[in-house]
Amino acid sequence: MSAVFVTATGTDVGKTFVTEGIIRALRRAGRPVDALKPIISGFDMHRAAASDSSRLLTALGRNLKTTEINAISPWRFKAPLSPDMASRLEGASIDFEALLGFCRKRIAAQPDALLIEGVGGIMVPLDDRHTVLDWMAALNLPVLLVAGSYLGTISHTLSALDVLDRRRLQVTAVVVSESATNAVDLDETVATIRRFSSSDIVGLPRLSGGAPDHYPAFARLADLL
Ligand SMILES: Nc1ncnc2c1ncn2[C@@H]1O[C@H](COP(=O)(O)OP(=O)(O)O)[C@@H](O)[C@H]1O
Ligand SMILES: [Mg+2]
Repeated sequence: MSAVFVTATGTDVGKTFVTEGIIRALRRAGRPVDALKPIISGFDMHRAAASDSSRLLTALGRNLKTTEINAISPWRFKAPLSPDMASRLEGASIDFEALLGFCRKRIAAQPDALLIEGVGGIMVPLDDRHTVLDWMAALNLPVLLVAGSYLGTISHTLSALDVLDRRRLQVTAVVVSESATNAVDLDETVATIRRFSSSDIVGLPRLSGGAPDHYPAFARLADLL
């Protein structure tokens, strides 16, 4: 069994894209795979097909029924805000222990690969006391850190790696997913991050369309699980 937590230096950098790509690569290799996106904000049931939950279910080859969405994403909030703010607007809050219990149960049940997509970046608040970092530390899973290639990413990525190291989280790889705007040369960005980090750094060019089945970087990442 191998489970990995997919986190990022920030929001919208490519966690779901990378998770979809790895799921497809694992399925192509004939490996059983499951994925979770336990907390999702900005979720609208009328536009559920475009959500991270649906993207992951589609990659897993499952249907988009409410029961499937409940199974993959039990904590859903309407406002596109950090989970603490989005839940507060609905008069709710995330029960951190229940979140851990949900993840641990699924980790224990999964025979092969399980990918858990976090929410936002590594220190997004979940409630008044816990951030994604606390969630990752409590689960103590290896982490896949997704970063962009935008101007500024090197500092964001090295800061994130330092924080993960301080919390003794193992980093399986850093995926630098080429940014659509403000992008700096991908290879140079990867080479520079490598100079300052001993982690495995994988550059992922900007690909057109959805995460493809055959892209070699995804197969390589799937092999790390
Ligand atoms: N390497 C890439 N090539 C093409 N599109 C990408 C790439 N990385 C991210 N995207 C796209 O950028 C957008 C934001 O990525 P997403 O995976 O949703 O980010 P996150 O899950 O971290 O919020 C999505 O539309 C996604 O498909
Ligand atoms: Mg996402």
